[in-house]
Amino acid sequence: MILDGRDPSVIERAALALAAGELVAMPTETVYGLGARADDDVAVGKIFSAKGRPADHPLIVHVADADSVREFASHVPPVAVRLVARFWPGPLTIIVPRAAGVATAAAGGQYSIGLRCPSHPVAHALLAEARSAGVPGVAAPSANRFGRISPTTAAHVAGEFGDELMVLDGGPCDVGIESSIVDCTRDHPVLLRPGVLTRAEIEAAAGEPLRDRDEAAPRASGTLEAHYAPTAPLRLMPAGQLQQALQMLTGSTLKLAVYSRVAPSGGIQGLRHRAMPARAAEAAHELFSVLRSFDDEGAQLIWVEEPPATPEWEGVRDRLRRAAASR
Ligand code: TXA
Ligand code: MG
Repeated sequence: MILDGRDPSVIERAALALAAGELVAMPTETVYGLGARADDDVAVGKIFSAKGRPADHPLIVHVADADSVREFASHVPPVAVRLVARFWPGPLTIIVPRAAGVATAAAGGQYSIGLRCPSHPVAHALLAEARSAGVPGVAAPSANRFGRISPTTAAHVAGEFGDELMVLDGGPCDVGIESSIVDCTRDHPVLLRPGVLTRAEIEAAAGEPLRDRDEAAPRASGTLEAHYAPTAPLRLMPAGQLQQALQMLTGSTLKLAVYSRVAPSGGIQGLRHRAMPARAAEAAHELFSVLRSFDDEGAQLIWVEEPPATPEWEGVRDRLRRAAASR
């Protein structure tokens, strides 16, 4: 059921449900999360079965504030301290060494743990209330089934999991793509997943250059090649190639959906076009919603114009590349 997340009595009820080991879906500024208390392996197990996600894929633990990091981390590397000071609450996840015996299921058996303090007021209210009820943190992956697009509205979540699940409605997510993940457990900070923060911003706060992930980096389902896929096959093309491909499809009855900055010319019957915004933040905000709406309208093919190869677009380009890789 979808409940109004701005209603304090709903927050209270949801916090009690979390404390009792039940699942609650909550809005964050990035995407909606499917939450369970992080210190309860049985509760966390419900997330893995609901999502159909392999149990060795670690989850992000959401905390009410920076002080809560100490509950989960064995120690907090200086670079993590700097990142937290600059970006929390906000769309950044840090990976730090995990305290022994804590949140083992949430960590998917890794010796490290992913932590994030979201800025969404509903998430914040829920995390604070849950902590008063004895919940030190809430493990929450994106509230979608494994391999599917992350949800950015409460209706998306209800559509994935049905009416049984308690979903707190906090409106459409501002950011729209998942948090940037920085691994702080190694000699140098490693960007495991780009989000809306640019490398330059993260490096400025870290005080050192970011490395890219390599084979030694831990498994992350958000970093699998094929992820975030709509149902219809998605192709990513430069603007020129897209126009050419469109011309070749003239007269076809395939249901084609196009997301591009340059409006498609020529006559394809029933072509569905959404204009890609000029600004990366706006594209990130609507991206998953646009892809879901193409699916809902029964598109058989989705063609997307490759966004510019500039730093602001890195997160959006990453999600599109993975969506295209899944076929
Ligand atoms: O914006 C977000 O991060 C959203 C909202 C709900 O907070 N959450 C999210 O969770 O995207 P999820 O589970 O869909 O993606 C989390 C990513 C996964 O790729 C996971 O493998 C990685 O974080 N991760 C979590 N803990 C990790 C760890 N200890 N080491 C390496 N990767 C980790
Ligand atoms: Mg996910």
